[in-house]
Amino acid sequence: MRRLITVGSVKGAPGVTTTVLALAAVWPNRADHGVRPVVVEADVSGGDLAVRFGCPHTPGLLDVATSARQEQPGSLLAAATDLPFGIRVVASPAGGGACGEAVRLVAGPGQRVLRGDESDRGTVLLDMGRIGDDASGVMEAAEAVVLVSRGGADALAHAYAHFSEAGPRVEQYVLAVVGPCPYAAGEITATLGVGRVVFLPWDPKAADVLAGRARSALRAKGWRASPLMAAAGAAARQLSGTDEVVTKGLSGDLAGLGAVPPPGGHLRRAAGLAPKESAS
Ligand SMILES: Nc1ncnc2c1ncn2[C@@H]1O[C@H](COP(=O)(O)OP(=O)(O)O)[C@@H](O)[C@H]1O
Ligand SMILES: [Mg+2]
Repeated sequence: MRRLITVGSVKGAPGVTTTVLALAAVWPNRADHGVRPVVVEADVSGGDLAVRFGCPHTPGLLDVATSARQEQPGSLLAAATDLPFGIRVVASPAGGGACGEAVRLVAGPGQRVLRGDESDRGTVLLDMGRIGDDASGVMEAAEAVVLVSRGGADALAHAYAHFSEAGPRVEQYVLAVVGPCPYAAGEITATLGVGRVVFLPWDPKAADVLAGRARSALRAKGWRASPLMAAAGAAARQLSGTDEVVTKGLSGDLAGLGAVPPPGGHLRRAAGLAPKESAS
């Protein structure tokens, strides 16, 4: 069966689609015996990739959803289109409506179509857009849930609220912080209660390529060495299990022992968050 990794946000548009494409573009070959990952646009408010890259959205998610209703679901890969930088994507049309219904089906009762059979290998990277209640089924089945957020206290406060409600499922989460962030990884993990955090730099050149806005840069190929792609590479190795989690400093060393890093008071205060351990 394919491995599922869901990627989404809790508020705003912090860069979910960009992050999913960056991860797919650098997904380690050795992770899935050379099987390229498949990006599935499963955003209830509709897809962006068909418009951004001028590619068809049929076949795409709507076809996958139709076949998910059948006793023998069709092939997910048959609905995939190749983007210019070698990424396979199952695209969705823009706009909610039919797309929302399709997402609810493949994220819920029709999930089998994403995972495939026992013999299917590879990884499905699911771009959920804003994470809603409809996503809970597929998130439970996912090996990891990447929550994408900006790095300010206001954005991280929303991530904190989401993690607080996740209960034991918080173990599945990786927080991907896009753009500037004044807080260190150890402070974020300790304060927000999430075990893993990765930083993805603000990198308009690479983001332009990933949004289909810079075709000439794409031909130059140098964009793959950009800061965003390098950081995405490290995150992809972590998510695919082809790398050890590298957390620098004392908290990293202690995390390896299962110890809890010290609480980071100033992020908590900046975010206006009561200490989780406070009894009154
Ligand atoms: N790391 C980044 N560096 C620079 N620009 C980015 C980055 N991530 C996203 N963007 C830009 O932010 C905008 C929204 O990104 P997108 O991935 O579509 O967000 P979402 O899927 O969360 O709505 C796009 O214009 C995209 O190019
Ligand atoms: Mg998006």
